[in-house]
Amino acid sequence: MKIRALMLAAALAGLGVTAVTAADEPQAVRQQLMKKVGQAAGALNGIAKGEKPYDAEIVKASLTTISETVKVFPNHFPAGSETGLETEASPKIWENMDDFKAKAAKLGTDASTLLAQLPSDQAGVGAALGILGKDCSSCHESYRLKKD
Ligand code: HEC
Repeated sequence: MKIRALMLAAALAGLGVTAVTAADEPQAVRQQLMKKVGQAAGALNGIAKGEKPYDAEIVKASLTTISETVKVFPNHFPAGSETGLETEASPKIWENMDDFKAKAAKLGTDASTLLAQLPSDQAGVGAALGILGKDCSSCHESYRLKKD
C-alpha cells in the first residue's frame, strides 16, 4: 500500500513536471497569449453585436489586454520553435520577422489609440472591432496556418 502510494506520488510528480515544461515552451506561451487576445476580442464582439450591454470597464480592459499582449507576443518565436505543440505559426514568420513584428505593432498601436479614445457605445465598439479585426486577419492570413 505504502509503495503504491509512493509510486502514485512519483507518477503525479512526473506529470506535473511534464505539464509545467510544456506550458513554458514558446509555442504554448504564444498560443496562450493569442487565446487572451481572442477572449478580449470576443468580449468586444459580444457588445458590438448587442449580446452584452455596453460596459466601459469591459471595453477598457479588453483593449488594454489586446494592446499589452500583442506587445510581447512576437518575443515568443525563437529559432527552434517553428514546429511542435500543434503550433499554427507559419514558417514565413521566421523569413519575414520584421514584417511579422510590424503587424503585431500595428495592432498594438490601433488598440492603444482606441483605448485613448475609448468607444462610448455599442456602435463605437463595433467600429473599433472593425479596425482591430483587419489587423487580426492581416496577420493571420500571412502568418497563421489553417489547421482545419
Ligand atoms: C502579428 C500577427 C498576429 C496578429 C496581429 C494577431 N494574431 Fe492571432 N495568431 C497569430 C499566430 C502566429 C497564431 C498561431 C500561434 C501558434 O499556434 O503558435 C495565432 C493564433 C490565434 C488564436 C488561436 C490561439 C490558440 O488557441 O492556439 C486566436 C484565438 C487568435 N490568434 C486571435 C487573434 C485575434 C482576435 C487577433 C486580433 C485582435 C489576432 N489574433 C491578431 C498571429 C497574430
